[in-house]
Amino acid sequence: MQIGNPLGDVPETLHAVVIASAVLVPVVVLLTSFGGWLIAARALAPIESINSTLRAIEATELSKRVEVRPTDRELQGLVRTINGLLGRLERAFHDLRNFTTDASHQLQTPLSVMKSTIEFARRRQVETEIPPLLDDLEEEVTDMSGVVADLQTLSLADAELQPAHLADVDFSTLCFDAAEIISALGEARSIVVQADVSPDVRVTGDPHKLKHVLLNLGDNAVKYTSSGGRVLFRLRREGGHAVLHVTDTGMGVAANELPRIFDRFYRAPSANGGVRGAGLGLAIAKRIIEVHHGSIAVSSTPGSGTTFSVRLPLT
Ligand SMILES: Nc1ncnc2c1ncn2[C@@H]1O[C@H](COP(=O)(O)OP(=O)(O)O)[C@@H](O)[C@H]1O
Ligand SMILES: [Mg+2]
Repeated sequence: MQIGNPLGDVPETLHAVVIASAVLVPVVVLLTSFGGWLIAARALAPIESINSTLRAIEATELSKRVEVRPTDRELQGLVRTINGLLGRLERAFHDLRNFTTDASHQLQTPLSVMKSTIEFARRRQVETEIPPLLDDLEEEVTDMSGVVADLQTLSLADAELQPAHLADVDFSTLCFDAAEIISALGEARSIVVQADVSPDVRVTGDPHKLKHVLLNLGDNAVKYTSSGGRVLFRLRREGGHAVLHVTDTGMGVAANELPRIFDRFYRAPSANGGVRGAGLGLAIAKRIIEVHHGSIAVSSTPGSGTTFSVRLPLT
C-alpha cells in the first residue's frame, strides 16, 4: 500500500516561500542593522561628548571639566579620573605662570637699577665719580647672579633625587662643617656660631643638596641676627629620625608672616630692611628636605629669635 499527497500544490507553496523570503530577509536584515546602529550610537554618545569636550580644552582654559549624565554609571569613574587630571594640570600651569612672573620681576629690578646707574655714569664728567657707580653695578650683578643660581638650584631640587647621587651621609660631620663655614660668616659681625652635634648620625641622601640646606639656614640665621647675637646648630637622634635645630637670637618673624616664609620669593617685610636676598633660600631648603622624605618647620618669637627644625629619616 502506498500513501501520498498529490504534488499539485507544492510548486505554488515553494513559489510563495521564495517571494516571502525575498521580501522579508532584506527587511529583517535592515531592521537589525538599524537597531544595532541605534544601540551603538546611544552607547557611544557620552564618549563622543567627552571626546569633544577634551578636544576643546586649551592650555589657557584648563578650568573646563568633562560632564557625564548620572545614568552613565560605567563612565563616571573614567570622568572622575579625567577631571582629577585636569585639576592637577590646572594647578601646575597656574603655579608655573606665577613662578615665571615672580622670577622675571625679581630679575627686572636689578636690571633697571643697573640701566639707570649706567645712564647716570655716562653723564658724569668727573672721573673720580665713576668707581662708586661701578661698585653699585657690581652689587646688582652679584644679586642677579645669586637669583639665577638660586633659580637653577630650585629647578634641580624640584627634580627627584638621582639614585647616582644617593649616599650614606654622615649628617653629624655635615652639620659640623656647615657650622664652621657659617662661623666665619658670623665673625665679621661678632655673631658666635656654635655646634652641639651628636656623633655618627647618618641619613641617606644627596650630601651636596643637604649641605646646601644647612648653609641656607645658617646664612639666614646670621643675616637676620644683629651684631653680638648667637647661632646654634644642635643635632640629635630622636626615634628613627635625625633632628637638627638651627636657632638664632635674631629679630624673629611675626606670627602672620611665618606661614609664608617657605613660599618662593616671599620675604617678610619686617625683616627686609637692608638685608639683601631673593626669598628663594627657604623654598629651596623645603623642597630638598621633602625629596629626602623629611620635614622642615619653624618657630619664632619676634624680637628674641627663630628656630628652624629639620627631621630626616635615619639610614
Ligand atoms: N633666621 C631667620 N630669622 C628671621 N627671619 C628669617 C630667618 N630666616 C628666614 N627669615 C625670613 O624668611 C624670608 C625668606 O627667607 P629665604 O627664603 O632664605 O630668603 P632671603 O633670605 O633671600 O630673603 C626672609 O626674607 C626673612 O623674612
Ligand atoms: Mg635666605
